[in-house]
Amino acid sequence: MTSPSFSTPAPSVPGTPSGSPAGWPLHDPTVRGFASDNYSGVHPEVLAALAAANGGHQVSYGEDEYTERLSDVMKGLFGASAESFPVFNGTGANVVSLQSLVPRWGAVVCATTAHINVDENGAPERVGGLKLLAVPTEDGKLTPELIDREAWGWGDEHRAQPLAVSLTQTTELGTRYTAEEVTAIAEHAHSLGMKVHMDGARLANAAAGLGSDVRAFTSDAGIDVLTFGGTKNGLLFGECVVALAPETAHALKYLRKMDMQLASKMRFISAQFLALLEGGLWLRSAAHANAMAQRLRSAVEGLDGVELTQPTESNGVFAILPDGVADRLRERFRFYDWDPARREVRWMCSFDTSEDDVDRFAAALREELGR
Ligand SMILES: Cc1ncc(COP(=O)(O)O)c(C=O)c1O
Repeated sequence: MTSPSFSTPAPSVPGTPSGSPAGWPLHDPTVRGFASDNYSGVHPEVLAALAAANGGHQVSYGEDEYTERLSDVMKGLFGASAESFPVFNGTGANVVSLQSLVPRWGAVVCATTAHINVDENGAPERVGGLKLLAVPTEDGKLTPELIDREAWGWGDEHRAQPLAVSLTQTTELGTRYTAEEVTAIAEHAHSLGMKVHMDGARLANAAAGLGSDVRAFTSDAGIDVLTFGGTKNGLLFGECVVALAPETAHALKYLRKMDMQLASKMRFISAQFLALLEGGLWLRSAAHANAMAQRLRSAVEGLDGVELTQPTESNGVFAILPDGVADRLRERFRFYDWDPARREVRWMCSFDTSEDDVDRFAAALREELGR
């Protein structure tokens, strides 16, 4: 019997686009707003990396060259015992990370404003099976004293056992923890037998803003597991769970699959992270987004009727505006209400926000305030 012969020519090599579908793009690519850093597109260097990683075959589920290299890069960033687990999205990363820290009867102390508490449709509770114990804060930041409001009741089977703390860096309110603050929280939590998770959807903005080695406020500060964000900093999609305490890595291997976060074509998440991390693009992009937020703050600070509600320590500005102004301004630029009850809005900048975007936005705000 002769073997089958394949006369079909190999498909044309990807990475050489044959042009866009007729009538594309469907959107106006010059329009940018201030709604969210995930409204932005993909950084061109990341897109180029995706194309360069394309073609041929690579072992699936993470045993590819890109994921292997990413593992080394993450060890370089966070220390030799760091183990990385690329995943699809931030909500999944948080659920997987938290599950790796606490048993079925465990609870997680977090700020009431934490994304895990208000913006994940209860995924940590419903998918992860974890009780959240939320503590109100002024600025989105926990402290040892605030943690103590919910860190009690161990040994009482009537109470979900507080066994972990979750911090968001930078916070949902645009503030950030210093290395000293994270260290104090981790020391306190560990002394109570609790582990510490960091939701670093905007870790890059914190690193760029603090101007310090990222280890200072993660591995060196005592964080046990970290969600390292990519999507808000120019990736098409993808986050990376990084186990900093060796005992969490074992569980993550299984939890990632169980929680539906194991990508078969993982090389494409890893390749994007490599594009971000290897040449410092993650810090350059985040520093730019932070700088645009500062520019916006400076442009609107002191305007009659504008009350800035939080310090600007990352890429977001929070403000209270006079009645009606936000809605009129929104006809020209997209952005979200943060707390409608007090007319507080949130303006987010991203890697591709330009100085001109900020200046035009500030001018539009001045116009609307003057009406
Ligand atoms: C602080 C924080 N954590 C996690 C997430 C979740 O990311 P995703 O939308 O990819 O699930 C977000 C997204 O807005 C976020 O702001």
